[in-house]
Amino acid sequence: MYICSCNVITALEIKRAIIELLKADPLRVITPGSVYRSMGYRPRCGSCLPHVSMLIAAAEETGAHLVLEDDYSLAESA
Ligand code: FES
Repeated sequence: MYICSCNVITALEIKRAIIELLKADPLRVITPGSVYRSMGYRPRCGSCLPHVSMLIAAAEETGAHLVLEDDYSLAESA
């Protein structure tokens, strides 16, 4: 599922970037801008940023590994 149509970025790519940022520094404050920068992109229209913020919050609240596992279980059931 594409989260950012301007940059053609999927939810899984964004989740992986969030996890890498959390692994590098678990105490870091992650923002949508820092996620995009780590991937070599920058937001354009900005309509995806609320969704990216929700993915960041989910990763921080539930633990990053659970967010990714959720994607894999969805892929297996499809
Ligand atoms: S949809 Fe992500 S910047 Fe436009």
